[in-house]
Amino acid sequence: MTTQQVNRALFDDVMVPNYNPQQMVPVRGAGSRVWDQDNNEYIDFAGGIAVNALGHCHPELVSVLKEQADTLWHLSNVFTNEPALRLAKKLTDATFADKVFFCNSGAEANEAAFKLVRKYSYDNFGAEKNEIISFKQGFHGRTLFTVSVGGQPKYREGFEPAPGAIEHAEFNNLDSLKALISDKTCGVVLEPTQGEGGVIPGNAEFLKGVRELCDQHNALLVFDEVQTGVGRTGHLYAYMESGVVPDVLTTAKSLGGGFPIGAMLCSDKVAPSLGFGTHGSTYGGNPLACAVAEKVLDIINTPEVLSGVATRNAIFNEELNKLNERFGIFKEVRGSGLLIGAELIEAWHGKAGEFLAAARAEGLMMLVAGPNVLRFAPSLIIPEADIREGMAKLAEAIAKVVEAAEA
Ligand SMILES: Cc1ncc(COP(=O)(O)O)c(C=O)c1O
Repeated sequence: MTTQQVNRALFDDVMVPNYNPQQMVPVRGAGSRVWDQDNNEYIDFAGGIAVNALGHCHPELVSVLKEQADTLWHLSNVFTNEPALRLAKKLTDATFADKVFFCNSGAEANEAAFKLVRKYSYDNFGAEKNEIISFKQGFHGRTLFTVSVGGQPKYREGFEPAPGAIEHAEFNNLDSLKALISDKTCGVVLEPTQGEGGVIPGNAEFLKGVRELCDQHNALLVFDEVQTGVGRTGHLYAYMESGVVPDVLTTAKSLGGGFPIGAMLCSDKVAPSLGFGTHGSTYGGNPLACAVAEKVLDIINTPEVLSGVATRNAIFNEELNKLNERFGIFKEVRGSGLLIGAELIEAWHGKAGEFLAAARAEGLMMLVAGPNVLRFAPSLIIPEADIREGMAKLAEAIAKVVEAAEA
């Protein structure tokens, strides 16, 4: 059988139109560089949306995946396996958590977390204590429960009826949470830095206050670290910098470095509520995924890699500030580690996508976070030379967008 020639046009013929991918089709990646079908080269500041934490085809990840592929692929949860056990041990040793539940994505990790907070309250306080509070602009995934807990109504419109007993407070506004929280609240859910919502860091006072309010009302605190986790902020998990310890934490994206895996971490206090038979996932804890994630964790959870994230953050900030001196298009550059957002000034609001397209044309892959924010979530080990070269491409892209607007 010959390999069928495929191209971007085929996407529109054979794929459900819920995505609208860029026109080029990437075929190969190495480190922070990617090549398309026409052999055009790109610098990757997108990192597969905060997933490729060690770049593309990191040799140690390739090697561990190949080795596992020759050993054992899948068992289901009727059996456990060595990579899953090793990974769970490393995750619990490295964090507040005592117990781990493995799954395949961020949404699934959150689904498990939200079910757990409901079930824990049901078991310990009764069925009436079932309200979940989360935050406006928050993003937790695309399943029906996660779009309902998420604070962006556009993602649930048309899919109702949505699960009930979910309220949304203002992020970084403790009074707003105080007005909603009560003894009927079973859990409060937040991203330590809101990612999709515009790269908005939760401030230290706010996070501390949320923890206190949860304690006062016997509500569990869930940190969605799907985007901020596994070194992205320069700490293994963002909670470690804040000093605020959640009861439940979800992690995915960078955990597999590009191989699909998610996990929910929790304390011994709450874990028993997901007792035998209460929840599950066929692929959760798959040996291939866990073997890769174990290696990702071994590499990232080291002082060199974590401190390297801060160094690279400084270079990104320096370059973005230089761009702003030249073009004056950013209102603010914010975020931590290698989750960085550059918010456009009002005159450019709604136009983030134009900069993204122009950057792609210059050979740079990057992201937006909503219509007003350019987002950068590259490999945590991206070489300095690639950052500088990527920023030169971004400068060209911005110059063209600004020029076109003035013409
Ligand atoms: C904070 C956060 N939570 C959850 C998700 C959903 O993860 P997944 O797409 O793997 O289901 C995302 C994805 O962008 C995210 O940024």
